[in-house]
Amino acid sequence: MSNILNILAFESSCDETSVAVLKNDRVLSNIILSQEFHKKHGGVVPEIASREHLKKITGLTRTALMRADTGIEEINLIAATSEPGLIGAILIGLNFAKSLAASLAIPFVPVNHIQAHVYSAFIKDEKPSFPFISLIISGGHTILLLVKDFFNHQILGTTVDDAAGEAFDKVAKMLGLGYPGGPEIDRRASSGNINFHKFPEAVIKDSKYDFSFSGIKTSVLYFIRKNNIDVKNELIVNDICASFQHAVVNTLLKKVIRASEEFGVKDICISGGVSANSYVKKLFSGLRDKNYRIFIPDAVYSTDNAAMIGITGYHKYRSLPEEQFISKSLSVKAKPRLDYENF
Ligand code: KG4
Ligand code: ZN
Repeated sequence: MSNILNILAFESSCDETSVAVLKNDRVLSNIILSQEFHKKHGGVVPEIASREHLKKITGLTRTALMRADTGIEEINLIAATSEPGLIGAILIGLNFAKSLAASLAIPFVPVNHIQAHVYSAFIKDEKPSFPFISLIISGGHTILLLVKDFFNHQILGTTVDDAAGEAFDKVAKMLGLGYPGGPEIDRRASSGNINFHKFPEAVIKDSKYDFSFSGIKTSVLYFIRKNNIDVKNELIVNDICASFQHAVVNTLLKKVIRASEEFGVKDICISGGVSANSYVKKLFSGLRDKNYRIFIPDAVYSTDNAAMIGITGYHKYRSLPEEQFISKSLSVKAKPRLDYENF
């Protein structure tokens, strides 16, 4: 295998069909197609997601190669999401990628989508140093990790109920803001008052690092009901968005600071869809004045994308024995749930 890896990477675990081309760890193209069809259903419909991936994946692959000015014959490594996510959706990208790797007789690297969010921090020129604290805040997961080296990490905490993004989406639904609600809450909160109402931050007994967001979500619901809030009143909705967002992001910030102090680590990476949130960026960036190094991907690499699958594939291929990616990895199976034991 040549020293230069020309990587073709695929992401299809939810409602984004994405294909990227990388030269080693440098992203040459990253095409993302967000499926709009789900909006009118108020959430992702798995069957529709799978069918759309199937329709779009071949054309997007051609576009990604063309934009990267790379011929398919130059590709010498293929990576794709194999877990966790919607099983039918993963299967489209995974099987497309495995078949392509088999037909080109090149290695294939299966990638864990959550690990890909962690290593999205390595796309930018300025990279974190090990060990670092990684907070992954996505639509399906909220996980706090101490990352000691590539593919060597300790899980410090996870959510005991809703994921952070899920809480944003559910509260947005209550306020009639559509799906996905995170970006809309972010937008509305920018003209709202964070001190309008104090939504309670969860305290979890016997757990320093786990998260819980369902309490905050429910208290928003009760607040709306009890006060007969008219969700058409823009000013009040903006204030609720700002107060809710403040409660969620403040909880995240406190746990990250606690972990950083306990482990003596000042490099902090925030990733996953919710890291695109402007208040997340604002509060965490404030830590830079206290000698922290804060790494947050550009918005396009925060939400689901194939470039993060490519960069994780790159580091996995470089870090682990090559043999396992030649033929053994082709038998990898798609998994819907995050397997914490082998994560
Ligand atoms: O990482 P991601 O694209 O998909 C999963 O792996 O789940 O995350 C999607 C989540 C959704 O819940 C969406 O509402 C949330 O990220 N999100 C945001 C923002 N942009 C996306 N939440 C808050 N503020 C944003 N700007
Ligand atoms: Zn994701």
